[in-house]
Amino acid sequence: MPTKKKKTSKAKATDKKKISATKSKEKEDATDVEDDELFKELLEDEDEDEDKKSEEVTAQKESSEEDLDPRLSIKYNIRDLPGVGATIAKKLCDVGYSTVNSIAITPSKILIEEAGLGDKTAAKIIHAAREALNIGFKTADTVWERRKSLARISTNSTDLDNLLGGGGIETGSLTEFFGEYRTGKTQIMHQLCVNVQLSKAEGGISGNALYIDTEGTFRPERLIQMSEAKGLDYREVLKNVIYARAYSSDHQIMLVKDCMKIIVEKNIKLIVVDSLISHFRAEFIGRGTLANRQQLLNLHLHDLLRLSEMYPELAVVVTNQVQSKPDTFFGDPTRATGGNVIAHGATVRIYLRKGKGEQRVAKMIDAPNLPEGESIFALTEGGIIDVDH
Ligand SMILES: Nc1ncnc2c1ncn2[C@@H]1O[C@H](COP(=O)(O)OP(=O)(O)O)[C@@H](O)[C@H]1O
Ligand SMILES: [Mg+2]
Repeated sequence: MPTKKKKTSKAKATDKKKISATKSKEKEDATDVEDDELFKELLEDEDEDEDKKSEEVTAQKESSEEDLDPRLSIKYNIRDLPGVGATIAKKLCDVGYSTVNSIAITPSKILIEEAGLGDKTAAKIIHAAREALNIGFKTADTVWERRKSLARISTNSTDLDNLLGGGGIETGSLTEFFGEYRTGKTQIMHQLCVNVQLSKAEGGISGNALYIDTEGTFRPERLIQMSEAKGLDYREVLKNVIYARAYSSDHQIMLVKDCMKIIVEKNIKLIVVDSLISHFRAEFIGRGTLANRQQLLNLHLHDLLRLSEMYPELAVVVTNQVQSKPDTFFGDPTRATGGNVIAHGATVRIYLRKGKGEQRVAKMIDAPNLPEGESIFALTEGGIIDVDH
């Protein structure tokens, strides 16, 4: 898509300017650095700097004066950060930290463990990344600029889209659909995998999907039916959905960590985890293991949340089962599994329940800026649709 490419190179250029400013400041401090490895890397970089400078000049010419949110520009080179030479860049990229944004918002402990960096190196790089992106206190209008830039993926039902704030699920956040068995969670996930591929005018964001399936309920047949109902070439649609079956909670955690490596390369704009908790629930049995389970789940959820923050063009959607509490006679007898861990992790939570026949009712449970409310949609062979009122 030519228009998208243009935007990326502009963004890249604008940010290079910001990074080079930080870089020259950091260079002055470089002599203070005691870390040998880091110092060697900086020396190695000197020659390449000249080449980079000429690239920057060309890039700057192309760039307009548009004040882009740096968080939108996810593609510029981490090599521009002081302290990131070839070796460190490789270490970081190998484990998926290929953008300045990803480094800026990852806790140093995780970066040290996953990329095998030294404490000092990690601290310095993270600091430089945050400086480059101006992460710190900002005014509400800057926050508003970012929020305005977020996009939405239609669920295919206008009613459900409206419940979600109009337009569907939002990028840059984590949305959870929870409900009992057969309430349509998996169907919605399939529908989003089709709709994310549509153009903006059609309710999508021209991106691809990554589907992490923990229950073995992913069905390409459903994608084919949904594509055909929308008059799309299903062969194309199937090619744009990347599938991974998670066989255990460990495997699921690893897949989410790994997916960082392909988000940019494969133009992934939707990550689905269907369902979030089933492996955790099956593997950690008994009260004694609950604390352990919640801790792991919490880390996993934060990995997912961070992804949605790293890539403002990416929507993360998870499903969750509900726990039956037959001893409850008042109020809703069901509640999401995972307890507070998930309640505090997901940005938007929607509870699904059965209506009559193929109808399903969605209820907004928790959203920072949306009213509570309900909407009705239907599950059909062609996918999610509105119900005629
Ligand atoms: N090919 C189909 N045609 C029509 N409806 C379907 C089809 N496949 C699934 N469904 C609907 O989806 C429901 C299952 O929903 P699903 O999303 O799998 O539930 P869960 O909430 O357990 O993930 C079925 O009960 C049925 O109503
Ligand atoms: Mg399901």
